[in-house]
Amino acid sequence: MSPSDHTIEALFDEARTFAPPDSVRANAIVSSEAIYDEAADFEAFWAKQAESLVWREPYDQVLDWSKAPFARWFVGGRLNVTESCLDQHLAERGDRVAYYWEGEPGDRKVITYRELYAEVCKLANALAEVGVEKGDRIAIYMGMVPELPVALLACARLGAPHSVVFGGFSADALADRINDAQAKVLITCDGAWRAGQVVPLKQMADEALEQTTSISSVLVVRRTENEVDMKPGRDIWYHEIVSRQPGGRPATECDSEDLLYLLYTSGTTAKPKGIVHTCAGYLTAVTATMRMVFDLHEAQDIFWCTADVGWVTGHSYVVYGPLANGATSVLYEGAPQYPDKDRFWDIVERYKVTVLYTAPTSIRTFMKWGDEYPGRHDLSSLRILGTVGEPINPEAWMWYRDVIGGGVTPVVDTWWQTETGAHIIAPLPGVTTTKPGSATFPLPGIAADVVDDEGRSVPLGQGGYLVLTRPWPSMLRGIYGDDNRFIETYWRRFSRPEEGKWVYFAGDGAKRDHDGYYWLLGRVDDVMNVSGHRISTLEVESALVDHPAVAEAAVIGRNDATTGQAIAAFVTLRGTREGDQALITELRDHVANKIGKIARPVSIVFTEELPKTRSGKIMRRLLRDISEERHLGDITTLANSAVVEEIAERARVQRKSAAPADA
Ligand code: WTA
Repeated sequence: MSPSDHTIEALFDEARTFAPPDSVRANAIVSSEAIYDEAADFEAFWAKQAESLVWREPYDQVLDWSKAPFARWFVGGRLNVTESCLDQHLAERGDRVAYYWEGEPGDRKVITYRELYAEVCKLANALAEVGVEKGDRIAIYMGMVPELPVALLACARLGAPHSVVFGGFSADALADRINDAQAKVLITCDGAWRAGQVVPLKQMADEALEQTTSISSVLVVRRTENEVDMKPGRDIWYHEIVSRQPGGRPATECDSEDLLYLLYTSGTTAKPKGIVHTCAGYLTAVTATMRMVFDLHEAQDIFWCTADVGWVTGHSYVVYGPLANGATSVLYEGAPQYPDKDRFWDIVERYKVTVLYTAPTSIRTFMKWGDEYPGRHDLSSLRILGTVGEPINPEAWMWYRDVIGGGVTPVVDTWWQTETGAHIIAPLPGVTTTKPGSATFPLPGIAADVVDDEGRSVPLGQGGYLVLTRPWPSMLRGIYGDDNRFIETYWRRFSRPEEGKWVYFAGDGAKRDHDGYYWLLGRVDDVMNVSGHRISTLEVESALVDHPAVAEAAVIGRNDATTGQAIAAFVTLRGTREGDQALITELRDHVANKIGKIARPVSIVFTEELPKTRSGKIMRRLLRDISEERHLGDITTLANSAVVEEIAERARVQRKSAAPADA
């Protein structure tokens, strides 16, 4: 697919602009456009940002790009990121609140920096007791409880990389990630609250551990108090082992480039990739973007990023970014509709949240629920609104600004990826005039471009592929255990190594308008974006063909008004099994079991054959056209054009009886 095929582009209104309000501009952390010029020397710019970190030993070189595309930032520096996130705050701000935590059932906890520090040290001591050493990988599979940020930081304290697996993933998905990382310890919960129900995390972890051999100990946080099996010699209650530990633990000294964490994300193959992030560069970029993009005044702001820590947004803007800045955040455990559809606005009002960061899919859901719910609450504390995860349509952007932001609050649309670690394209709320639906400009210190198939920069007003043309500190350092795939996935397409030119290909289409604003157009590869979650078409296809009734499957993301994209599957069956409603349900559940509920197709159409080119490639574009009810242009290049009409008809019938997108 090329970006010009893309349909999300529909209604961009390039003319509407919003200058920063005086209230934000007057007191903004970044108040002048001069910062972009100052950052022209990008190494000097990032070196300046790195001054806010706590260093044990200074670095000798800002960037070593001699082994491109393998970057090393702040070469030779020594640090432990938890000294920036915790220790440095104790003397003067130890009593400041780090997290206001709110459980879904309504229970609450206020956690100061001093308390967080003590809890992190205790868990680090507990992990050391079960044999964790620097460099060991620790898997984390938890709900949004206070012990979750504690777990990440305890690993970091020991220099033991964490690999957080989102609690919505299935046992199989957890097992794959544990195996790929060869994790030694797993930290999990008995269960997690989600919309009034218990997600049985420990039970799923037990299933996962039947398929793994590397885990020697499992620490289990008691949260939902559902019954769980505790395997003697392996499973330990978190509260039992942690409560007997001392509340101090010297931080393990790490190199700037030591592995901080792995985070698995979907690519264009069935196997998720372990994205590698290291210590100093990552922390530098999340700390700096947290300040620049959210205009964070850490002593006054109450920041709430609604993302789950299972995703990169939670790593960077629930845990590391806010804590390194000494900020106060809200951490909410559960669903936005529990007990009623005003839960988010109730939280904003009660904690007087000043900066809210959420996803377009949530915003569209709130729009659908109606203005009545935010209308019940005083939202006047809000002064910045952020969005991330997928392109935001101008209508949702305007609703966010008007209804949630009272018609004045700046919206910062932030484009970035698991791979980029931190914001890349985003407005500076005290400086940038925004346009609804545009992420505006690359941040200071970042160099981006939009290029054509040959890698040539396209003129303003045209679309192409989004690329990053210079290294940045929080860039992924690789794919865990697969250097070749790292080069092939991100660097091969547009780089010219013989000229020393390395160009990072993001996988997204983008357009720059005549004023140079960036408009993101969605993925141009086989990655779907469902409610801001990245899911590979191949991952879902291989889950489907794993079912004994399925011969072949093709999966596409079709546009959906709420979830951005929705997963539509086309399936041919083996033998004589009839494709009926019962089988549709069975296949949807099968995918949920293999990957997680987020990957469950909303529709499945059975067909005798899939439309293929004469060379045997499945025509996904055509299936998208069918799914989105577009006119099916020229299909003469197909090997089996007759099958197309039939699929289109069946899809029409399916649509009438389709499952709701969020089921
Ligand atoms: C998409 C999430 C448009 C994009 C931080 C990217 C966006 C993928 C935006 C990364 C945005 C994220 N506008 N598209 N503001 N933010 N995306 O790795 O397609 O979960 O490549 O990181 O989400 O998703 P990931």
